[in-house]
Amino acid sequence: MQLDDLYRRVIMDHYKNPRNRGQFEDGGFTIDLNNPTCGDKISLQMKVEDGVVQDARYTGEGCSISMSSASMMTDAVKGKTLEEALQLAENFSQLMQGNNVEFEYEDIEALSGVNKFPARIKCATLAWNAMRKGIEQAKQ
Ligand code: FES
Repeated sequence: MQLDDLYRRVIMDHYKNPRNRGQFEDGGFTIDLNNPTCGDKISLQMKVEDGVVQDARYTGEGCSISMSSASMMTDAVKGKTLEEALQLAENFSQLMQGNNVEFEYEDIEALSGVNKFPARIKCATLAWNAMRKGIEQAKQ
């Protein structure tokens, strides 16, 4: 199988079988963000305790790239300290700039091809920007 095909399968798997989609019944805080170019939205919820991301959920409407990226991000960020989570977001930006970055949560690397399509970078980074915003909020 070609790498592109494998990556496409990983993205579609997260889109069709989203991890962490939904809302907490209690606790946590919410960050709403939209992609200004298309109007698609994400509502991210995070629970942070003692400087560690305990859990993350999301709801929203968007393309397969934005929603699969949210699915991956919410999985990858669990159990990370706020600094580690910010570093992950930074690594993801590097990936979107075409740099070769490896992730402990390897599925994220399936989004590496997005850097060739500038219009889609905003789709892929939507959830990550929401997470950054959430962490700023948690730090205050
Ligand atoms: Fe709207 Fe991708 S087209 S988030």
